[in-house]
Amino acid sequence: MQNSNHTKRMETATMASVSTPALGIDYRECVVPEDTDPCTIVILGATGDLTARKLIPALFNLYLNDGLPQPFQIVGCGRTKLDDLEFRNAMKAAVETSGLPDQNKWSPFANALHYRSIDYENLESYHRLAEALKDIDREKNTLGNRIFYVALPPTLYHTVSQMIGRAGLSAEMSNHNGWSRIVVEKPFGTDLQTAQELDCRLHEHFRENQIFRIDHYLAKETVQNVLMFRFANSLFEPIWNRRYVDHVSITAIETLGVEHRAGYYERSGVLRDMFQNHMMQLLALIAMEPPSRFKDELVRDEKSKVFAALRPFPTDDLQNYLVLAQYGSGAIDNRPVPAYREEPGVDPNSLTPTYAMMKVFLDNWRWQGVPFYMTSGKRLAEKTTEIVIQFKTVPHSLFRHILGETIVANRLIMGIYPDEKITLTFQTKNPGARVCLRTVTMDFHYQQNYSGPVLDAYEKVLIDCMLGDQMLFWRQDAVERSWSFLTPILDRCEDCEDQSRMLQFYPAGSRGPAAAEELFRESEG
Ligand code: BG6
Repeated sequence: MQNSNHTKRMETATMASVSTPALGIDYRECVVPEDTDPCTIVILGATGDLTARKLIPALFNLYLNDGLPQPFQIVGCGRTKLDDLEFRNAMKAAVETSGLPDQNKWSPFANALHYRSIDYENLESYHRLAEALKDIDREKNTLGNRIFYVALPPTLYHTVSQMIGRAGLSAEMSNHNGWSRIVVEKPFGTDLQTAQELDCRLHEHFRENQIFRIDHYLAKETVQNVLMFRFANSLFEPIWNRRYVDHVSITAIETLGVEHRAGYYERSGVLRDMFQNHMMQLLALIAMEPPSRFKDELVRDEKSKVFAALRPFPTDDLQNYLVLAQYGSGAIDNRPVPAYREEPGVDPNSLTPTYAMMKVFLDNWRWQGVPFYMTSGKRLAEKTTEIVIQFKTVPHSLFRHILGETIVANRLIMGIYPDEKITLTFQTKNPGARVCLRTVTMDFHYQQNYSGPVLDAYEKVLIDCMLGDQMLFWRQDAVERSWSFLTPILDRCEDCEDQSRMLQFYPAGSRGPAAAEELFRESEG
């Protein structure tokens, strides 16, 4: 009896909530790290955007939450000539953009801020910096421990790391130095070869355990939670494999366009900007094997193995695995926005993709045959970052003769942005005498029953740098494996003929190109 009027499927998902017992501990035990060593953070590029938007607000917030070591000093370096007071005022203005800081709290923090102008190419400048750092150590007792945060364009990474080394600042536990660490942000090269070259250069003066390659996605609370969710519960791991999982989709889409970054983005496009780093890290966390302990090297070993298992991309059959597209003009929040090609600094004939959907496979025992869909793009209808684990449908539906339909398969969604949540969708009986199924969703919101402070991604990475914990940072072998996978795709796509043939267009504010839906629909059945 198919589709009898005695039977009905409730299409709308109904919500079921999850209760979270209160933490039962002082939130500070979770927010603030164990004792960190006294240190000085040296920001190279201190008059730039990253310092004002992210680094100083993050450090000030850590200070407010007792998250900085004691003593702690900050030395900003930049080409511009400023004195300490001018730098402090500029940093106060930066912090004020998210609300006026309490003057009583700002003043002691500001006293730890110093400024030294620097010529990045001039060794003498670094010798002077070294002397200034020694003076600070003597006066403030920071024990010669230093973090060099390179908040500068990647073209300067080599020069700066070399100069730091030649000025004797990378050597640890000698010449009045304590420990010494260097922090660099992506992009780590633009392909396999340039990534290897950059690495050789960084290693001229720093060992691997001194190099912190940031991926801010890894420091997002909900991204870190993927490992807790998978490995601190016995429920999910046994079904986290090809027997139960139909496909996985990893999505990081946004409404923002290229903004003022055309110079960088034109040369990078979405594959280098989002896939080589953030998307790959999300893939690794979802797909990796459990490490024996929650230790940085062991976790990074397992992640690197995921990259090694990536099936080489069928570059002769790209259209069945990859959709590349670029945004045209359209509207975001009812506001007209220009096409990518009309953005300032963009070539009017640009073939740079701002959107990609990629279907990848992992050749290993756990994931053989399970497609992973990775999607990222700019100027789309919404800003969403999430991971969906789509389970298979039941192997046999005993309700088929009553319901006449396939039962909706379970789905687990790990929401990273804007909703920091985990939802699990399953079927239940609808109350009543009729046989009706309804899809319900069990919802856990990450902030549920929590009212303590939340660390921003930069706060977390800065703390880990101070602790010398590299778990949330890229290791060079993983960088190279990620590039080894992507470089042949880039080579193929950037071959002129293929590039224009492959590139699709989508209106800004839309859900992306139709071809992506087609590629994805194969799995949805
Ligand atoms: C950056 C990319 O790494 O990540 C940007 O360079 C992108 O192009 C940004 O907009 C997205 O980060 P988030 O945290 O806003 O998802």
